[in-house]
Amino acid sequence: MATPPRLLDERQRMTSIILIVYTTQYRKGGAQFRQVAETLAREKRSLGMAVRCVAVERKIALQTLLKQLKGDGQLLAEFHFVGHAGIYGPMWGSTEYPEQFSPYELRQLEFPWAIEAKAYFHACRTAPWFAPYFARQQQVTSYGYHWYTTFSAQPDRYRFPGKQKPHRPLYAFGSPGRKSHGWGATFKKVIGKMAAEPWKEFSPSAEPVDTSYNEVAKLYAATFADITVRRDEFAWLRGHLPQDAVLRVLDVGCGNGSLLKALLPQLDSGVGVDVSEGLLLQAKKVAEENPQLSFYRIEGPTLPLPDHSVDVAISLLSFRYLDWDPMLVELMRVLKPNGKLLVVDMVTAPVTLSEYPQLLRSKLRHYQDRKRRPEFYSKLRQLVTHPGWAHMLKFNPIRSLREMQTYLESRFPGRKAEIINVGLHSRILAFDSGPVSNYQPGSTQYP
Ligand SMILES: C[S@@+](CC[C@H](N)C(=O)[O-])C[C@H]1O[C@@H](n2cnc3c(N)ncnc32)[C@H](O)[C@@H]1O
Repeated sequence: MATPPRLLDERQRMTSIILIVYTTQYRKGGAQFRQVAETLAREKRSLGMAVRCVAVERKIALQTLLKQLKGDGQLLAEFHFVGHAGIYGPMWGSTEYPEQFSPYELRQLEFPWAIEAKAYFHACRTAPWFAPYFARQQQVTSYGYHWYTTFSAQPDRYRFPGKQKPHRPLYAFGSPGRKSHGWGATFKKVIGKMAAEPWKEFSPSAEPVDTSYNEVAKLYAATFADITVRRDEFAWLRGHLPQDAVLRVLDVGCGNGSLLKALLPQLDSGVGVDVSEGLLLQAKKVAEENPQLSFYRIEGPTLPLPDHSVDVAISLLSFRYLDWDPMLVELMRVLKPNGKLLVVDMVTAPVTLSEYPQLLRSKLRHYQDRKRRPEFYSKLRQLVTHPGWAHMLKFNPIRSLREMQTYLESRFPGRKAEIINVGLHSRILAFDSGPVSNYQPGSTQYP
């Protein structure tokens, strides 16, 4: 939907401010983030702009601040965040109690934007997913960095900040390349040859963007018609279903329904929910042949099921996309008290030295698999080389191992995530919650 043109009037100019928020408690760098924020504030003030520069350590503090600004009739001409970020945007809290807004919560944040407002995220990796999402949801031009940020005494070319003095200018510097602190990057910095990564700009889109699997739904369904091609994941899930019980299973992010179909011999009935109409069309074909299965569309963390009606909820390769806290509350509602949640998902984490044997075993099996299932691999190639796949991935990033593991283990104390497969930059994490009556809301607030 096109945004109506907004006119800059005198009242707007009078009441518009630049809001700079920074964090000091999440990981290292707190004092420098303050210094970066204050440098930015001085520069903006010197241009005659009204600036508010505040440390905001918790999500709730930002929500409160925005409400106050709105109540005071102040508008934001610019919003700046200075601090750490995960792929889903700014990190709040501390490493013990990390917090991040879920996409659902972000949609509900009420920023009192002035016309032609802009939002800048001075933090690592904010361009791949977060800034474009923010631009779409908040309808403001947003900026982020594709790679990592570091501190520099100069904004455009890296200069070592030297001994910290609170009033020296300091900048969050977009450092191009995969590693801001690797050997190559360090060398370039030392010889003064590292130019800053330019901001990536994202405009609010006039048209709604389809971020789902819809465009590749048919190819996806053809590739994963038989879910047992995901050998390790399927074996783990099957092994963690309670035996000898009449089971009603919910599959969240069910895709084309092939998991429930493959688990049918162990189930009484199954319900799949998914956001993609395209994939649900494929899943409904599975339901036509298997009346114990049904599939529904969901859009957000609401499940079309009665309270305490499900024995096991499964999320296979879809947990990363969900609004974690609100969805977990909803899952706790629909699961029976002795029911459980099984999550299997891909997460990012570089391989460690001790994992090399497991990595080599995985690679070897993968190589053997390619020979055993040439048809599957040819379909997989068609799927991942389709332009719709790259488009979908742009809007659906995978999460870090630390994020997902911390989150799940904090909500079900005493339960540990397992790693069932290792890649060079990724892992397959598997988590069995045990009886969900042990669920604890927890202090960490990742999405
Ligand atoms: C990698 S696919 C996995 C599908 C299926 N579980 C499988 O293993 O074949 C991820 C699935 O999550 C679904 N999904 C993404 N965001 C979702 C959301 N917010 N709510 C429900 N499903 C979602 C996608 O439509 C897609 O079907």
